[in-house]
Amino acid sequence: MDKKSITIGLVGGSGRMGQWFKRFFTAAGYSVEIAGRRTALTPVELARKSRVLIVTVPIAVTCATIKELGPYLAKDALIMDLTSLKKEPVEAMLRYSEAEVIGAHPLFGPRERSLKGKNIVLCPARGKRWLPWLKDLFQSYGGHLEIMSPDEHDRAMGIVQGLVHAAHMAMGMTVAGSKFPLSTLGSVATPNFKKKLQQVRRLFSQDPTLYAQMLFYNSYALPTLESYMDNLHRLVSAVREKESATIEKVFAEVGLYIKSGNYETIL
Ligand SMILES: NC(=O)c1ccc[n+]([C@@H]2O[C@H](COP(=O)([O-])OP(=O)(O)OC[C@H]3O[C@@H](n4cnc5c(N)ncnc54)[C@H](OP(=O)(O)O)[C@@H]3O)[C@@H](O)[C@H]2O)c1
Repeated sequence: MDKKSITIGLVGGSGRMGQWFKRFFTAAGYSVEIAGRRTALTPVELARKSRVLIVTVPIAVTCATIKELGPYLAKDALIMDLTSLKKEPVEAMLRYSEAEVIGAHPLFGPRERSLKGKNIVLCPARGKRWLPWLKDLFQSYGGHLEIMSPDEHDRAMGIVQGLVHAAHMAMGMTVAGSKFPLSTLGSVATPNFKKKLQQVRRLFSQDPTLYAQMLFYNSYALPTLESYMDNLHRLVSAVREKESATIEKVFAEVGLYIKSGNYETIL
């Protein structure tokens, strides 16, 4: 495949992930062009000329963008998105284009320097030509690929992202609400608390819109958070009633779950 003859178009290419993937594909030797709301090249023109069109716009406007651009893609082209959710974007790509379709979710942010050791979920949904190309490319840079269905992806992200982000938000809210000066907490911090605080600080230094959209648009986020709240209620009640049996039961239940997986190979 002659790399330079393949134009990779990034709609939303001025954004954080768009810029990351522009650098990535350019370094890999491809010809990359971007389009957005203010570029001379319009997104429609980009869609017409791209062999691979990647949609990397905010979650809230992803499906509308796919709907607008999908019809301009050639049948033997590839349309792909980088959205943190997969169900609706993949459905939209199938519905509004005739091109090959792969939903992708890079499980890292734009601060990462390389693909080495990073996970990317791929949801191939139509066609066979482009998947081997994409897999070879990502794997040659050390990326770890996980192929799954859009629904399975979204269900997993309800936990991997929804639960973790909401728990960090609640922790940040609780620490801030305690009115303790951070310096006081810092001077009595355990290594564990420092690690947690770093994660909370990292989350609150980012774009709230992206986090809100990940929670609002993933249909699995709300049930996951409701289950988390039920568990918190269970813990609060155990603490209120001083029921050590409940805490022991919880340790046993979760301990069994952890033992059932090959934990050492996951981390
Ligand atoms: N950030 C992450 O850590 C991360 C990680 C994995 C996946 N993702 C996914 O990657 C996609 C892009 O995220 P991002 O963080 O790169 O977003 P971003 O920095 O906000 O960039 C998105 C780009 O989309 C364009 N755009 C088009 N319509 C827009 C609208 N109505 N409002 C705002 N921007 C609009 C903008 O470019 P113009 O101004 O040139 O139009 C903007 O630069 C999302 O689907 C997200 O779920 C993000």
